[in-house]
Amino acid sequence: MEMTDLKTKMGHYYNTSAAYYSKLSKETPTDFEDYFSLIDQFGKTGRLLEIGCGTGLSSYLLSQKGYQTVGIDISEMFLKELKNKERPNLKLEVGDACDLYQFEDNSFDLVCMNGVIEHVPEVEKALKEMSRVVRSEGIIIVTSPNLLSPFSPIKFILRKVFFGTSIKTPFFDSVGGAALAVLKRMVAIVKKRFSQDPEFSLRNPEFDAGGDFDAVWQSNAIDLEKYFKRMGFEVLHLSYSHGGRFEKLLVKLFPRTAGAIAMVVRKK
Ligand SMILES: C[S@@+](CC[C@H](N)C(=O)[O-])C[C@H]1O[C@@H](n2cnc3c(N)ncnc32)[C@H](O)[C@@H]1O
Repeated sequence: MEMTDLKTKMGHYYNTSAAYYSKLSKETPTDFEDYFSLIDQFGKTGRLLEIGCGTGLSSYLLSQKGYQTVGIDISEMFLKELKNKERPNLKLEVGDACDLYQFEDNSFDLVCMNGVIEHVPEVEKALKEMSRVVRSEGIIIVTSPNLLSPFSPIKFILRKVFFGTSIKTPFFDSVGGAALAVLKRMVAIVKKRFSQDPEFSLRNPEFDAGGDFDAVWQSNAIDLEKYFKRMGFEVLHLSYSHGGRFEKLLVKLFPRTAGAIAMVVRKK
């Protein structure tokens, strides 16, 4: 699919999908615990831009933490709900991650997005814009599923073999497929670790199917890390794991294999 077609399709989807709107409307503060723990750890007070703020609940909660918060989202449909939440230190508006023309260079202390970057076809444009609007010594936080993690296909295999149940995912639907996915992902991780340039590989999204079906590229920690390093950022944090103790230990040793990207970078 052409980039412009994909962009139009994504924009249309977020502006019209009642199912997506309903899903976002059901979110509660506990849904943001991991994301907020990064913000609490690495953020200070100051001016914060949240990109892809959905129904605005997370932006509202961030403003309650004392941040002078601006939340933007590409969906006008979601914005209807956002407007009810505006406060003196919370501004909410329609905006595109790939073109933050309304914001000046170096104008935010913290720029963050939660579960958004995997839905943005022009990844590099978005990362460039985020890098532009954050101030020197400021922080960018990006969370996303890691679609190169071998843990999800491994979990699929274990569940299928030991409990006969399966997880719905767009990437594999059988034990053989999941085993192949583990192998392919490990090879891709090794290749990416040895290659110079970030490579954001696009995929065809499937809408309203839930999970990671609507991701438009194979989001992963390695390409994001490479991009930010190239832009002169210092990487402070890479990922987190929602798995058990053994998985957490493995993720400590191999952070780029974790199921969730939790990238925190500082502009030098
Ligand atoms: C999975 S939702 C996450 C929403 C919110 N961050 C949360 O954690 O609940 C993805 C959000 O990204 C928004 N989005 C997608 N592409 C965007 C873009 N290019 N610029 C701004 N927002 C975008 C969608 O409209 C949607 O609200």
